[in-house]
Amino acid sequence: MRFDHRHLLGIEPLRPDEITTLLDLADRYVDFNRRPDRHARALSGLTQINMFFENSTRTQASFEIAGKRLGADVMNMAMQASSIKKGETLIDTAMTLNAMHPDLLVVRHPHSGAVNLLAQKVNCAVLNAGDGRHEHPTQALLDALTIRRAKGRLHRLTIAICGDIAHSRVARSNLLLLHKMENRIRLIGPPTLMPSGIDAFGVEVFDDMREGLKGADVVMMLRLQRERMDGGFIPSEREYYHRYGLDSEKLGYAMDDAIVMHPGPMNRGVEIDGTLADDINRSVIQDQVEMGVAVRMAAMDLLARNLRSRPSEIIT
Ligand code: NCD
Repeated sequence: MRFDHRHLLGIEPLRPDEITTLLDLADRYVDFNRRPDRHARALSGLTQINMFFENSTRTQASFEIAGKRLGADVMNMAMQASSIKKGETLIDTAMTLNAMHPDLLVVRHPHSGAVNLLAQKVNCAVLNAGDGRHEHPTQALLDALTIRRAKGRLHRLTIAICGDIAHSRVARSNLLLLHKMENRIRLIGPPTLMPSGIDAFGVEVFDDMREGLKGADVVMMLRLQRERMDGGFIPSEREYYHRYGLDSEKLGYAMDDAIVMHPGPMNRGVEIDGTLADDINRSVIQDQVEMGVAVRMAAMDLLARNLRSRPSEIIT
């Protein structure tokens, strides 16, 4: 098993075989998590700090549960109540925590690149839980595991990513991962929500949803990231739903066994029809959440093995 990384900052630096290694280990953690007794020791004696500078439900809970199931001492920093509010910089906060010798730092931040910068200043392993519109590697990995388990493979699939591509770190990390694993990627959305120059990346771009969904094996929906919009990107939510909201009529253009995904939080009736989102024959949205815990366990387990192979300063 090779995974020679000190941090997990993005999908970009990962090789396909490293992605496979991580997903294989995550698969074993899925089984482990379904057992009644879920206590392992892979992270025992290690301290994990979660620093979330942006709202989060599933990612933060998932990292916390993952750390606890592996025996780490997990601390959630309440960033709203931290000294950041007193004007302390991100780096000073990170250096302060670093002096307490954490082993794993899980960070979410609204600015693209902030987590990479922080990783250069600390000597523990840093996991990016989403930085601005840049990367969200564990989301792409959990999506990949969900797809691999549902479709039996993670290559040569036609995958449609639909909606607010321009503001989405989920889309970016997924694009990188699915491209590395040799899938056919289609991006569907209004031109105002499509990053410029994206077609150079080897993807097909559509603004007609029915056209883009034809023959898709996987349909991945995205939330309108209003917090990252500074103007009128869409005419109205009603109009947006009409053109780009996924309902069973539009899904009818995809393959009969196409799966429906959404990273959450979803806005029912804006990007997806609520009944379709709850349809367990098509939607794997709850599976994605389950896979999230397993993928984060695998990621922290692999990084911790690398920590431990470094010369230990701990007196035993
Ligand atoms: C995503 C995020 O934060 O980037 N959510 C998540 O982590 N599950 C997507 C979103 O906020 O729309």
